[in-house]
Amino acid sequence: MSKHSNRVAIVQGLRTPFVKAATAYRSLDALDLGRLVVAELVQRSGIDPRSIDQLVYGTVIPSPKAANIAREVVLGTGLPRTIPAHSVSQACASSNQAITSAADQIWRGYAEIAIAGGSESLSTVPILFSREFSDTLVKASKQKSLGGKLGAFTRVRPKHLVPDVPAIAESATGLTMGQSCEIMAKQNGITREAQDRFALQSHLRAARAWKEGRFDNQVMRVVAPPMYDEAVKYDNMIREDTTLEKLAELRPVFSYGTITAGNSSGLTDGASAVLMMSEKKANDLGLDPIGFIRAYAYAALDPFEQLLQGPAFAIPKALDRAHLKLADIGVVEMHEAFAAQVLSNIQWLGSKTFANERLDRADAVGELDPEKINPTGGSIAIGHPFGATGARIVTAVCHEMQRTGEQYGLVSVCAAGGQGSAIILERE
Ligand SMILES: CC(C)(COP(=O)(O)OP(=O)(O)OC[C@H]1O[C@@H](n2cnc3c(N)ncnc32)[C@H](O)[C@@H]1OP(=O)(O)O)[C@@H](O)C(=O)NCCC(=O)NCCS
Repeated sequence: MSKHSNRVAIVQGLRTPFVKAATAYRSLDALDLGRLVVAELVQRSGIDPRSIDQLVYGTVIPSPKAANIAREVVLGTGLPRTIPAHSVSQACASSNQAITSAADQIWRGYAEIAIAGGSESLSTVPILFSREFSDTLVKASKQKSLGGKLGAFTRVRPKHLVPDVPAIAESATGLTMGQSCEIMAKQNGITREAQDRFALQSHLRAARAWKEGRFDNQVMRVVAPPMYDEAVKYDNMIREDTTLEKLAELRPVFSYGTITAGNSSGLTDGASAVLMMSEKKANDLGLDPIGFIRAYAYAALDPFEQLLQGPAFAIPKALDRAHLKLADIGVVEMHEAFAAQVLSNIQWLGSKTFANERLDRADAVGELDPEKINPTGGSIAIGHPFGATGARIVTAVCHEMQRTGEQYGLVSVCAAGGQGSAIILERE
């Protein structure tokens, strides 16, 4: 996607405030949150809803009641029912995948206007029955008489009633993200102090960004059930008052090591969406895009290796496709699953050995100063509703490019399964 082809414009981006799971949005599921943000985005943009050609939406833990959440979003927002919609899942890079899938459609000329984004509710994750109890329910449903139905339950034991809660663990390795990141921190020599320092920066910057009004046009208000008595206006996980001393007191949470609740992203609810269209369409409608997609890439490594190093592989691939070097990028947003993951990604990008041995390149991809990335804070402070983070970051980079006049921006997200996503954006 070069400047000379039909570029894909990001016209506007919006998200709900991100909140700690089981707090303000405990009565809303991912679909409810997705509907809210998409409806508000369309309304704020002023575009004719009939002109939307496609909606692509991502979520990581889908509800069994809304397998194609994208289509349910269309049907539940009063958008024309003729808009086709499909859902994507690429773990924490799900809304990145939604955005790049929609971009491909626009780039090929199959769509002119699309909405892409993602949503997650960790307050309402579907809790499954055990295999034995599910089998019993199915058997009971097939019985015709009441006696037969009751009879199906005679073999149920108390242990069969223990719920099966989805874990944030890799199916291949059996390790949680946090445990995998502990291994990375150890192997890369990322100290607890460096992690806490980075986490502190995330909180202070996010708090400052809110104070300076930098999120005002990126975040909507949500009036949430059951009481509908108060609007949620801000992200509720940002700790303006945290300090290095407080962070240093927190105990490691993943078996051993250096990762704490303070230097990890927390379990979060929220949704996001962006309005995308061809550059030509934006011009025709007299709209002023906040950015353009220049290139993107996905990459993956063996999850038994360093699970969250996907961005170190995806970023150079995307830069090559954009015909740019890391040094050309003025605004960098890296999703913060954990501080140790960001610092590990940065370490590998700056390593000549990594470039020689793993990327077959003569020189390191480039140096990234941790203090120069995530200018308005990141997922550690703002939160990480898995499916929603990518669209949050794409919107944040576009606004930061507008604010600073920088021409190029980079978005990267690490994802389960050893995957990584990188999107290169340009301002004009
Ligand atoms: C890390 C994790 C286990 C922590 O969960 P939690 O224990 O519910 O976290 P909390 O927010 O309750 O924080 C625990 C404690 O640390 C404190 N704390 C957290 N962040 C802090 C900060 N920045 N400064 C000071 N104190 C902090 C809290 O106040 C709380 O203290 P308390 O026990 O006295 O109330 C959870 O957030 C998690 O699993 N995160 C990783 C999610 C993941 O893997 N995502 C995928 C990655 S892509």
